[in-house]
Amino acid sequence: MRINIAIDGPSAAGKSTIAKVLAERLGYVHLDTGAMYRCVALKALREKIDLNDEDGLCRMLANTDIRLTPRSEVFLDGEEVTNEIRTDEISLAASSVSKHAKVRSDLVSRQQEIARDKGFIMDGRDIGTVVLKNAEVKIYMVASPEARALRRYRQNIEKGIPTSSVEIIAEEIRQRDYQDMNRENSPLRKADDAFEIDTSDMTIEEVTERIMALATKFIHAGEEE
Ligand code: DC
Repeated sequence: MRINIAIDGPSAAGKSTIAKVLAERLGYVHLDTGAMYRCVALKALREKIDLNDEDGLCRMLANTDIRLTPRSEVFLDGEEVTNEIRTDEISLAASSVSKHAKVRSDLVSRQQEIARDKGFIMDGRDIGTVVLKNAEVKIYMVASPEARALRRYRQNIEKGIPTSSVEIIAEEIRQRDYQDMNRENSPLRKADDAFEIDTSDMTIEEVTERIMALATKFIHAGEEE
């Protein structure tokens, strides 16, 4: 049986990295929903739309095409923006646009449309609570702010993305956590039926194994029926 896996948690907790590995292992499709909010932020900044102007952002979204490929490339209106959406400026702007109910509802419907069938691993902030409420496996992934800042720093260097110092990244992460957890619409929170995993001192392999153990139970349960 194919299932859906929802992975939520604060920024830089390792969600996308793990989701990618799991997708490969299971032959599933990974959907990084944060990349969609990042696209909205990038286009709004380019078109000088005020990030607080909810209706302006929605009008813009009505004419916006966002495409995520299985190889984790991100296309905004046909232009590849895979790396451009990873800067610190866009991270913060994405968190700002994501507080608007109408922006969220537009993107949530796109995400639900994409994942109408099973076989998806979606990561974000509201996947287990809103987007894929019926996901068989829900993970709430956390890590200490220090571990997250260091990971993001190393990731930036690896990908050749211009990066701030670890201290500045840690501050930016704290600011985003605050915004994401305290917004009115779909704030980041653990779904009641989610398994919490603290990845601070775990390797990618260990986290993957933990989730694979949970997922396999569901996958095989379906086969026995
Ligand atoms: O996962 P990320 O860091 O790429 O996400 C960027 C921002 O988008 C994050 O600060 C909060 C927002 N976001 C959201 O509100 N809901 C999601 N499902 C995914 C991301």
